[in-house]
Amino acid sequence: MAETLILGIESSCDETGLALVALPDSGPPRLLSHALHSQIDMHQAYGGVVPELASRDHIRRVVPLARQVLAEAGRAMSDVDVVAYTKGPGLAGALLVGAGVACALGAALGKPLLGVHHLEGHVLSPFLSVDPPEFPFVALLVSGGHTQLMRVDGVGRYELLGETVDDAAGEAFDKSAKLMGLPYPGGPHLSKLAATGRSDAFELPRPMLHSGNLDFSFAGLKTAVRTHLVRLGWLDQAAILSATENQAVLADLAASTQAAIVEVLVKKALAALKATGLKRVVVAGGVGANKLLREQLDRACARRGVRVHYPELHLCTDNGAMIALAAAMRLQAGLATLSTEPAFDVKPRWDLAAL
Ligand code: KG4
Ligand code: ZN
Repeated sequence: MAETLILGIESSCDETGLALVALPDSGPPRLLSHALHSQIDMHQAYGGVVPELASRDHIRRVVPLARQVLAEAGRAMSDVDVVAYTKGPGLAGALLVGAGVACALGAALGKPLLGVHHLEGHVLSPFLSVDPPEFPFVALLVSGGHTQLMRVDGVGRYELLGETVDDAAGEAFDKSAKLMGLPYPGGPHLSKLAATGRSDAFELPRPMLHSGNLDFSFAGLKTAVRTHLVRLGWLDQAAILSATENQAVLADLAASTQAAIVEVLVKKALAALKATGLKRVVVAGGVGANKLLREQLDRACARRGVRVHYPELHLCTDNGAMIALAAAMRLQAGLATLSTEPAFDVKPRWDLAAL
């Protein structure tokens, strides 16, 4: 059976992700191999992503990771039929590294390129899970840079229902965690600390919970966390924050913060399901790895007869597999724009609904 071999390259932020996906003439795409290099350790010292360092590191990693995924799948570079890369949104310099390498490989192999929308990758990533969704569904996209609710009727058919008016959910985790003296990226660290805390210990706002629309706002939450730390006299007090005797109080604040973010996400997702009448929801993006979000959404949806789908845990955060998969699903749907032209038209800002 003939199949199309797609090499996926993700380099939009602080992870270099490479993957190989095989698209058969009929049937779903298969992930053959994927490899990831996370730059978290490098950026941790700065408390956030340093774009210039991110770009330089992507340059070092892309080709060795490409060789690794080919070796793991037992394929040669010349077997690749399509080179897919993240075209946007993301950091311009970082995107240009992926696009530049894709361009060079395409030219050397005489194979076409396919620029992929990073968020489409996230939204479609649950199709690689053991329990893939079916269209249509509501997508709750919760990453470090985006928080959106979408109605998804098929590949390329994305209707924006609501989005954050300020910080993203991942940013709310990251910024609150930073205030609490936790390392970057804050989401997983805050969530780990929260596991031992009481979620009702601190009063925190649930921004826009009753706004009557499907938009979000998380900037006020971070400010409220800051206010609690000021009251405790702990703001910018690294020694106090790390003192063992204060860890229980900090765990309470972490648990209260996580509970506020999760409650807003779950209630808005339920509101989107109600508004659309759909009975299926897909959660995608880094915050989709959050255990409390999964527990609460599962419980609320089970009560309403709604199916919930997640990407595999290791495919929640940025990776090359979702980029190769999105390319495969676009090709399958007859929506792919293949190009043999040099691919230097990255889109650091790019609206998914405009696809
Ligand atoms: O999707 P992603 O890898 O990158 C973007 O496209 O932005 O998401 C990264 C975000 C970060 O804000 C990180 O703190 C958050 O996902 N995150 C989590 C967890 N794991 C990652 N937030 C809460 N709980 C987690 N377990
Ligand atoms: Zn992402």
